[in-house]
Amino acid sequence: MQKFIVTGGSRLRGELQLQGSKNSALPIMAAAILPDGECLIKNCPGLTDVYSAARILNCLGCKCIFSDNTVTTDSSALSSSEIPDELMREMRSSIVFMGAVLGRMKECTVSIPGGCELGPRPIDMHLSSMQKMGIDIRETGGRIICRTRSGRPKGAKITLNFPSVGATENIILCAVLAQGETVINNAAREPEICDLCGFLRSCGADIIGDGESRIIINGKDKLHGCEYSVMPDRIAGATYLSMAAAAGGELILKNACVAESEPFLSILEQTGCTLNTGENKIYIRSGGRLRAVRDRIRTMPHPGFPTDAQAVLMAALSLAEGTSVFEENIFDCRYRHTDALVKMGADIQVMGKIAVVKGVSRLHGANVEATDLRGGAAMLAAALAAEGTSEISRIYHIDRGYEKIEEAVRLLGGDMKRVQ
Ligand code: UD1
Repeated sequence: MQKFIVTGGSRLRGELQLQGSKNSALPIMAAAILPDGECLIKNCPGLTDVYSAARILNCLGCKCIFSDNTVTTDSSALSSSEIPDELMREMRSSIVFMGAVLGRMKECTVSIPGGCELGPRPIDMHLSSMQKMGIDIRETGGRIICRTRSGRPKGAKITLNFPSVGATENIILCAVLAQGETVINNAAREPEICDLCGFLRSCGADIIGDGESRIIINGKDKLHGCEYSVMPDRIAGATYLSMAAAAGGELILKNACVAESEPFLSILEQTGCTLNTGENKIYIRSGGRLRAVRDRIRTMPHPGFPTDAQAVLMAALSLAEGTSVFEENIFDCRYRHTDALVKMGADIQVMGKIAVVKGVSRLHGANVEATDLRGGAAMLAAALAAEGTSEISRIYHIDRGYEKIEEAVRLLGGDMKRVQ
């Protein structure tokens, strides 16, 4: 199995072109099932999750080619509405294919996406929303069989108990070709939802209110192909900024989404780093020791502090002067990286949803295992700031979300290599 060998202590310096957003690219690829024609999806990151999405499209009969960060799809000859178990298990976000397949094929068979990376991730809101849209759902032998009751999904008024990103995406994907109007109350407001809606509007869909808590979709009879560019990855951006904050140095992120990164940047600024933003650019300079963040860092749905940036910021704050407190409100099991950070010398105490991080003056290299995607990235940030060499294994977690991360870090002067 591949590993990263990282020797810390070098400051990070330079410019980085940020990758396209994984969490936008995946639902947009699912959405490419809906138009009856060809789509050109640009700025797609080359990631294992994106390749898994391409395999799902191929198995449904949608032609899909990934080349030079562009995904080309052609759904004119869609032939299947079943996603095999092994493809569902490859990636948790395979579940957003459900709404899209239902919208286009009026039926679909999927299974519960496997794994328990961040604690239980139920899909009850996805299923109850589809039922409200006139879909019969039954489960047999681990397969979820969905059939439209009256030939076509029906618009519905749906109020979510929690603004789930995936459930909001599934409803939108099913609603754009449904009969009549769908209203989603308490919808997720994440920028990636707006990106998905931007793509769908380019295909002719009628959607308003994305980015707000109420989204209204008027179903169309048909959508057409389009050309679209995926937004930059705000979480990869937060990761590289956290690395620079922890290791020290000066970094310009290009192709960054500034407004969408604000909930993260406003907290990062409190650590004493210099931050400047320009058009699609974020600049950071990190010199002396970081300061702890005084207020509790609460992860919340957008526009709150993003749960996906919690681990990487924690890695940086483990070296700050003073104590920072995190409160994880989105996932039950999102502190699995802390054991590795403690092994590297961090002082972190976890009590349920709270993590208390007492800053230490130095971290040291250690052999650690990536526990999940963002947790693995946090270990990498810590290793780049630590004294000595670290070995990070199970890096397939990291490869799910970061494109050519070792090249990016090396470009900035970090000492990191991938070994077999
Ligand atoms: C998406 C992101 C993930 C991010 C998360 C929260 C993608 C591919 N993934 O995940 O990176 O961390 O949003 O910003 O975009 N829940 C239920 N029942 C449901 C659905 C969700 O209880 O039917 C719960 C989940 O267990 C979790 C919370 O709602 O506790 C938020 O989950 P959700 O917003 O759905 O996250 P994902 O779409 O899975």
